[in-house]
Amino acid sequence: MTDQNVPHHIAIVMDGNGRWANKRFLPRIAGHKQGVDSLKRCAKACDKRGVRVLTVFAFSSENWRRPSEEVSGLMDLFAFALSREVPQLKADGVQLRFIGERQGLSARVLKGIEQAEAETSSNSRLVLNVCFNYGGRWDIVQAAAKLAEQGILATEQSMRQAMALAHVPDPDLVIRTGGELRISNFLLWQSAYSEFEFTNTLWPDFDEAALDAAIASYAGRERRFGQTSDQVQFAIPCVSAD
Ligand code: FPP
Repeated sequence: MTDQNVPHHIAIVMDGNGRWANKRFLPRIAGHKQGVDSLKRCAKACDKRGVRVLTVFAFSSENWRRPSEEVSGLMDLFAFALSREVPQLKADGVQLRFIGERQGLSARVLKGIEQAEAETSSNSRLVLNVCFNYGGRWDIVQAAAKLAEQGILATEQSMRQAMALAHVPDPDLVIRTGGELRISNFLLWQSAYSEFEFTNTLWPDFDEAALDAAIASYAGRERRFGQTSDQVQFAIPCVSAD
């Protein structure tokens, strides 16, 4: 039985690594390193609470515009973190999926991604989608292009199946850490009916208590999906327009 108070799918914009490092007079990459540890802790905590899908924004299509030393530092960290963490993630039953444009990634990063996906593909305890070189607009455009190429009419259903996150249901809860109140090209299609939670906590400081606070806030929401509150409370079925 599933607990309706716990989101099946949580998606996170892991913002605030740079500020976490700046506050400690450390280089920004130290914040990103701490961010990897925070992600590990968060994945474990999600699993413990019954969350079955975790999707994180690790590198956006727009992050290439950062200073070149930060971009190369993030690429190195990503490749290193994959080689170091995959055996444990595999043992913990985590299925890793990488979502985003693969063209333009280095051979080393690509190899890490492909190995991690292959090694964890039969796991099903927690799906961890890592959005890397990802943008919500890119996803919509690649889905539309795929359908056009196959001569398939674009409908909500066919688009859904062509999108990069077709293997999981849409996120129930989207969390953004770091105090900014924007979506920054994350899951534009999939977050249509997600609940949002914004926190000032910087990503490296996002601990189990912060996750619990976000889940508690989610549990207090009424999800109406376009219906009225009465319809939802008394479970009156939707009337289709056609
Ligand atoms: C945003 O903080 C964070 C990022 C652009 C990178 C997030 C990446 C990780 C946590 C590492 C992920 C690694 C793996 C292996 C999945 P920011 O730099 O924008 O922080 P700021 O707003 O304080 O400057």
